[in-house]
Amino acid sequence: MCGIVGYIGEKNAAEILVAGLEKLEYRGYDSAGIAVYDGASLSVRKELGRLKNLEEALSKSPLTGNAGIGHTRWATHGMPSTKNSHPHTSMDGKFAVVHNGIIENYGELREALTNKGCVFTSETDTEVIPHLIDYHYENNGGDFLRAVKSAIVSLTGSFAIGILCKDFPDTLIAVRKDSPLIVGLGKGENFIASDIPAILSETRDVLFLDDGEIAVITKDGVSITALDGNPVIRDVHRVTFNENAAQKGGFEHFMIKEIHEQPKAVADTLRGRLSLSAPVKFDGIEPEILKDIDKIHIIACGSAYHAGLVGKTAIERLAKIPVSVELSSEYRYNNPLTDSKTLVIAISQSGETADTLAGMRLAKSLGARVLAITNVVGSTVAREASGVFYTYAGPEISVASTKAYATQLVAIYLFAVFAAEVLGRTSPEELYTIKSELLNIPELIKQTISTEAEIAALSKKIYKETDMYYLGRGLDYAVAMEGSLKLKEISYIHSETYAGGELKHGPIALIEDKTVVLAISCDKDLCGKMESNIKEVITRGAFVVLLANDATKPMHAEFSEVITVPETLPLLTPLSAVAALQLLAYYVAKNLGYDIDKPRNLAKSVTVE
Ligand code: M6R
Repeated sequence: MCGIVGYIGEKNAAEILVAGLEKLEYRGYDSAGIAVYDGASLSVRKELGRLKNLEEALSKSPLTGNAGIGHTRWATHGMPSTKNSHPHTSMDGKFAVVHNGIIENYGELREALTNKGCVFTSETDTEVIPHLIDYHYENNGGDFLRAVKSAIVSLTGSFAIGILCKDFPDTLIAVRKDSPLIVGLGKGENFIASDIPAILSETRDVLFLDDGEIAVITKDGVSITALDGNPVIRDVHRVTFNENAAQKGGFEHFMIKEIHEQPKAVADTLRGRLSLSAPVKFDGIEPEILKDIDKIHIIACGSAYHAGLVGKTAIERLAKIPVSVELSSEYRYNNPLTDSKTLVIAISQSGETADTLAGMRLAKSLGARVLAITNVVGSTVAREASGVFYTYAGPEISVASTKAYATQLVAIYLFAVFAAEVLGRTSPEELYTIKSELLNIPELIKQTISTEAEIAALSKKIYKETDMYYLGRGLDYAVAMEGSLKLKEISYIHSETYAGGELKHGPIALIEDKTVVLAISCDKDLCGKMESNIKEVITRGAFVVLLANDATKPMHAEFSEVITVPETLPLLTPLSAVAALQLLAYYVAKNLGYDIDKPRNLAKSVTVE
């Protein structure tokens, strides 16, 4: 997720932009840049890596001027590099643009603009924007606002954009669609930012732009219009929270912020890949990747491994290819039966997990094709794979994975549908139903998150426990594992997961009076069997927290507490259920007063074997 800041006023723009970008550092980024109007032209400085690299470049060769835009980039299209970092400019340098989001149709636009003579200097989706504005500017008699409007109606996807034009040094234009953007109000100066912290040391008065709105900003005023040209009157919002809270968007911890970001992260990961009218687009991955493949091995660690377990069911059910899922650290030493007819899917949020990398390298040496699912563009996993599918969760800061896991699930479901479509192994009608429901998933996750207050109340009843057991069958078992891992990681409560049917083969000996059991029962085909398992533990005195939906709840006669999540297709239930378990772990840990974002002994990226 990138960050935007913009300034127009009488002060030194470069200083304000860099100070604003510093406030966005917590989001994570791979490069940063600014463009400033220096009285004659738009001068650009950009550097790969930390902000201090940009600061050093600016100290050697300062930019002076009173209007500018700045950006921290988290790569999505094109590797992290200086040429791919923002701002991007039109060919003659007349326009400079910073952009957050994804331009889905950039491929077509790039081709059309190239045919008109545009020369692109980066691999980004963003670069089409300044060229497109420039094209319309030339054809609109030099009208800055009209050129911007004409350009943005051709863009599909999500965007927050800040634009400067050399011919209009007193004007900064900002546009928003599906990506946050605010205008900060000062005296004789105004600002734009993707996040409040970027401008909080300068002003607390902000205007929130809505989708499809364009703000024309000068140092003395702001006018907002909708795309159709109608003026928009927006109330000024006074920010009351401090900078630290602002970085967390007003949330107490990054983990809870990231739980709340899941509907957007999932929608971003689906966007441009899934539609009802066309086969799934699995980024640059061609159907040939499945040619002659007779099995799939998924390798991953931690939460990514749990996503892989869901992937096994989804792929086997839809694409009818046998799938095995292995912990990367085990796969490496198991003399795997991987060969040239194997597709290995490596799942890794960070793209740097040592065991997963080693597993990939082994798979390649055995002749397999390797597909990576990762959240970090340009990561080692991404670079070494034969094909890569990016999740668009944005930077995940909390050690406990939440939104990255949800987007890994989405990625693997998309792969299952992609493979089913390529191989023709599931009827188009069934795939249509699954695709429609996948498009609805962001809304369902929102509904699950809306039960937060009830889950917080429930956490108060169980947070002092020393042991908890998670039970589930089928996909509920995979989700139970993820819920249990979350609890362990941040609350340090001992917890284990069992498949419902395994209870009587040993673990039931652990159940005694008031033992807390989380019973996940979201699959209506399996809830009858789960009911028997729940009865087995209730009979032994367990305190059962049932996680169910409207289809499965009626099947359960007895439980101590219930968390209700929205109903969805049995194959997709992990997507609607997991946020409830994340919330439960979060509130249990919060009651215990632990350092939730940085749990003891754990690191965000495990680069050692
Ligand atoms: O970056 P990766 O997805 O490869 O990381 C894998 C695990 O280390 C990670 O999922 C870990 O289990 C998380 N802390 C889970 O919350």
